[in-house]
Amino acid sequence: ELINWCVEDTRKGGFAHYMLKEIYEQPQSFYETIRAGIDDRVRRMVMEADEITLVACGTSYHTALVFKYLAEPLCGIPVRVEVGSEFKYFTPPLHGLVIAVSQSGETADTIAALKMAKARNCPTLAITNMQGSTVTRVADETLLMRAGPEIGVAATKSYTAQLAALMQIVNLRCEGAFDDALSHAHLAIGDVLLQDIHEAVALCSKAEHVFFVGRGPFYPVSMEGALKMKEISYVHAEGYAAGELKHGPFALLTPETPVVAVCTPGPTYGVMASNIKEMKARKAPVIALGVAGDTELAEIVDIFIPIPNTHHLVQVLTASVVLQLLAYHTACALQRDVDKPRNLAKSVTVE
Ligand code: G6P
Repeated sequence: ELINWCVEDTRKGGFAHYMLKEIYEQPQSFYETIRAGIDDRVRRMVMEADEITLVACGTSYHTALVFKYLAEPLCGIPVRVEVGSEFKYFTPPLHGLVIAVSQSGETADTIAALKMAKARNCPTLAITNMQGSTVTRVADETLLMRAGPEIGVAATKSYTAQLAALMQIVNLRCEGAFDDALSHAHLAIGDVLLQDIHEAVALCSKAEHVFFVGRGPFYPVSMEGALKMKEISYVHAEGYAAGELKHGPFALLTPETPVVAVCTPGPTYGVMASNIKEMKARKAPVIALGVAGDTELAEIVDIFIPIPNTHHLVQVLTASVVLQLLAYHTACALQRDVDKPRNLAKSVTVE
């Protein structure tokens, strides 16, 4: 099957930047990727895997980490995630399926890692947005995401479309337990696009450093939030596992160093709330993402940003979209070149 991209898809369509347009396209690109499903050959490959290794770079590395945090507890499959640039030179012993995650399908480090996995006779799968790209030619099978052309250098809709593809793999291994959550996720993504975040933007655009923290799948969500912030606004940002902040970064907390914390219901809610109190005690302003109606959380933080109270798989998506908007509007407030940040390329074809 050939996927058609039309010229209209590559225009800005009234948005100030491609990045904003692409952020707004996420309900559709997520939905399309879910709707496309997984073909039989890929299904078989995924069902047969008793261990999965993912290789990726940049934003794609973060979606791979989210997959690990979902797939290990929910489906009981051991998952390992490696950055492409390390994998080639420090290849771990490999057993099961190896998945290369790459929007462009042309990232040299990811391709090198994929070739290494092939040389070790592992079954290989490419998850990519680019039909016919190099990873699709190297891997045994391909799962195409349906993000459409992404022009902004910072990955946004390709990130959530990768999550759509990876969450479908989780769903497949869990016998369709998340069918309902996944088929309605685009509605919640649409809701957060309208979220007012101007107070948080004002705080971040004055800051020299911002920390992003979360636990479980929200840890890589925080890493991605920090990556978006640094790449387009040039504000120094770090993504941390919330419990690790006290092992060093606490020394950097001041009233001028905001912490963005994702604190949603679940087994880590209580410990996240105590982490937040520890940060407040060190005088750091805290911007918290929590579920709508969580007045207890809203009371202990400086700025509370609600996300819809949905299935936690969907909260991973909505929290990520809020963090994209935070980076975008902070970059705009600082008058950065949002779609073409300095020193960066959309696709890195050298090792
Ligand atoms: C570059 C881009 C990033 C992207 C990374 C991996 O660094 O600027 O946005 O996440 O490459 O790209 P890929 O196409 O392999 O997902």
